[in-house]
Amino acid sequence: MKREKLIKKYNICVVGAGHVGLVAAAGFADLGHKVICVDNNKARIAALKKNIMPFYEPDMEELVKKNFKAGTLAFSPSLDEGIKKSRVIFIAVGTPPLPDGSADLTAIENVAMCVAKNLDSHKVIVEKSTVPVQTGQRLKETIKRYKNNDVEFDVVSNPEFLREGKAVYDFFYPDRLVIGAESARAKAIMQEIYSPIKTEFVFTDINTAELIKHASNSFLATKISFINSVSRVCDLAGADVDKVALAMGLDKRIGPQFLNAGIGYGGFCFPKDVEAFTFISKKLGYDFGILKEVKKVNDEQRSHFVNKIKERLWVLKGKKIAVLGLSFKPDTDDMRFAPSEDIVNLLAQEGAALSLYDPKAKAEAQELFKGKNIIFAKDSYTAVKGADCVCFLTEWGEFKKLDFVKVKKMMQHALLADGRNMLDKAQMIKLGFEYIGMGR
Ligand code: UGA
Repeated sequence: MKREKLIKKYNICVVGAGHVGLVAAAGFADLGHKVICVDNNKARIAALKKNIMPFYEPDMEELVKKNFKAGTLAFSPSLDEGIKKSRVIFIAVGTPPLPDGSADLTAIENVAMCVAKNLDSHKVIVEKSTVPVQTGQRLKETIKRYKNNDVEFDVVSNPEFLREGKAVYDFFYPDRLVIGAESARAKAIMQEIYSPIKTEFVFTDINTAELIKHASNSFLATKISFINSVSRVCDLAGADVDKVALAMGLDKRIGPQFLNAGIGYGGFCFPKDVEAFTFISKKLGYDFGILKEVKKVNDEQRSHFVNKIKERLWVLKGKKIAVLGLSFKPDTDDMRFAPSEDIVNLLAQEGAALSLYDPKAKAEAQELFKGKNIIFAKDSYTAVKGADCVCFLTEWGEFKKLDFVKVKKMMQHALLADGRNMLDKAQMIKLGFEYIGMGR
């Protein structure tokens, strides 16, 4: 798709070289801006300077390499340097969950203090990280408190909606751009930065923009937990959740996406954002009961899946179980809050002999399950050899293409537990497998 013309080139600093920051930095450079991406993880910056990516994301490596070579994208471990050189500072640092479910905003405050120290001319400070509503107000107060001159600045909220695994595409072709700006100058600068991108711009105040992000992620998580609850009823009633979701999704008011039932949502966004939105709502005086239930349903899907296997295999101790797919979704090596973590731990607790395989997340999974008696297989076929059950926990494309006649021959007992409803159930039964699905 063709891009519009860039109206004005800006010097941009992106703070944080994580999933959001790195893609945004490379994306802004590709739009024609001069970008410096900073991160306090010195090893990560040193590797990026050698064009070694910190994580797997389709198309990202090419985008980074191209713009690094062209000189429009630079990397630095120094926040001071990044801020000094830039008119616009995008904050894309982590906001990890604290034990009470709230978001840890230490890294955001740290950037604010550094901006205050280096504020020598007008700058725009843009929140890209997901933050609770009213963080922008805090950001403004902090910069005001710590700066020692009367130089003006603007704070903007510009939440990111990109999905891991499709991040580069989502950066250039977003469904919408949300810009929470409170001055005409900041609004104009944001419009100029994004001028090549053809999409709907939604302009709001800062609080509203921040809330849009939490509300969007929480709503998507609610859709998933809703269909997962429906899948439980389908199991009990002998109905097919796939058909229910298909027919529901054809109603334009509902829509077909995010209605795949299974072992639930994971990743670094939905679990933490549902909790953070519940927390901030409570703090403001509202008990967001629906969201508590969304989390509960999601947690239960994992043990429900293991119970289904137990119903078939009875005692799991000593049984060989192959687990195919570990990342929280396909096309990423990200294991953060992946449903596989709970499921593998539950199966290991029961004493099952586990053989795991994932096309990309092996290194992350080895770190996560360190010290556990688990074998990591080199491919799917090696993993399923002699298994009493094969579990599918991530719907990687390559699993759908497996030779299931061969898989059946290699297994000790032909039981498939499809945690993502990704296989053709009728075909698997025809091939002679016992099949466990989620609500079908
Ligand atoms: C999510 C949002 O989709 C992005 O818009 C947002 O920008 C991002 O969080 C974020 O806040 O940074 P992401 O976490 O990359 O993106 O992954 P999704 O594709 O949304 O999937 C999240 C989880 O839900 C995965 O574990 C996936 O398997 C699960 N899921 C998704 C289902 O169980 N069923 C579905 O129908 C859809």
